Amino acid sequence: MITDVIRADAEEVVIRLGRLIEPLADSRVLVTGAAGFLGGFFVDVLDAFNRARIGHPAQVTALDTFMVGPAARLAHLRGKPWLSLRSGNVATEPDFGGHFDWIIHCASIGSPAIYRANPLATIAANVQGTWNMLDLAGKGAKGMLSFSSSEVYGDPSVVPTPEDYHGNVSFTGPRACYDESKRLGETLCATYFRLNRVPVKVIRPFNVYGPGQRLDDGRIIPDLVRTALAGGPLVLYSDGRATRSFCYVSDFAEACLTLLMMPEADGEAFNVGNAEEVSIAEAARTMATVAAEPPLVVELHQSPEAAFLVDNPQRRCPDLTKLHRLTGFTARTSLREGLARTLASYREELAQRQVRTGTM
Ligand SMILES: NC(=O)c1ccc[n+]([C@@H]2O[C@H](COP(=O)([O-])OP(=O)(O)OC[C@H]3O[C@@H](n4cnc5c(N)ncnc54)[C@H](O)[C@@H]3O)[C@@H](O)[C@H]2O)c1
Repeated sequence: MITDVIRADAEEVVIRLGRLIEPLADSRVLVTGAAGFLGGFFVDVLDAFNRARIGHPAQVTALDTFMVGPAARLAHLRGKPWLSLRSGNVATEPDFGGHFDWIIHCASIGSPAIYRANPLATIAANVQGTWNMLDLAGKGAKGMLSFSSSEVYGDPSVVPTPEDYHGNVSFTGPRACYDESKRLGETLCATYFRLNRVPVKVIRPFNVYGPGQRLDDGRIIPDLVRTALAGGPLVLYSDGRATRSFCYVSDFAEACLTLLMMPEADGEAFNVGNAEEVSIAEAARTMATVAAEPPLVVELHQSPEAAFLVDNPQRRCPDLTKLHRLTGFTARTSLREGLARTLASYREELAQRQVRTGTM
């Protein structure tokens, strides 16, 4: 569902990128996983771009199985002449609809709770899906973003973690279907670049959050938002000491689209995130104060799911030197500000629903 916050964030990304994304005008763009959190936001950025460049829209194909992301995520764009909304699977689709200038490949199952329940579909999307996108990009695309994950580093011994760290990953544990297939997806990207010069850039997102995430997907910020909306308490299924570096979605999209436009980034992998490392407990305390006055209560519980914390990394913080050196990018949104925007967007969504169902 679209909100004023998402719309404003998408417009802000277009303003920040300015002339850099001019090559999107009159081009053909494929977004996979387009009903998901990041894919959906990229489509909203393309919508903002098209509203700003009347007469020269990017023609966008938005593809999703709608297994995780709901079709309703893009309902506000239905009927737009520049948008083709398709139900399809990146791993098995026989035809993606011709040639594309730009491919933004987000299709995957990113939520730990959902990928643990669907390990083979997760592997298929990350490996065969990426392979198919690389074949498609090889037919003359100007640029492709392939979304990997900071999970390729496993539980790293080097933090902040640079791109050349090879990882400390279990290849048989409950998270392996995701971590290892992301790693093989990256091997495919590096191989296609080496063999065929396919202009692919690999993005390793570090805990991106913001409006548009499914609140039941088991990731920490959606969990905090869901419980904050219900008035608390905010429940952590751990001791809260593990750290993460949270990046607000508009900062993330700005960095990714900058890379998409840069031929110098072809064949390379980039950490994309925010360098500020905070403990999960600190993130919860920040949400507690953003959500209410007096702050909501934070409680530590044990997860009912036995595998919940198996192979869960203790620290997660990107070394962003490579990204900064090439693009000059630094994340601008503080955790407090990002959480406030996120919560405001979900409150807006709730109010829209209540108006629609007449419960307000
Ligand atoms: N959000 C983050 O912090 C984060 C962190 C690390 C990596 N990533 C990666 O970024 C990408 C996007 O993440 P997200 O947070 O938007 O995830 P998401 O789960 O919200 O969205 C992914 C979308 O892909 C769709 N999908 C799944 N399998 C598919 C298939 N075979 N064919 C077509 N569509 C399929 C799902 O239905 C969903 O709508 C993923 O590759 C994810 O692994 C995200």
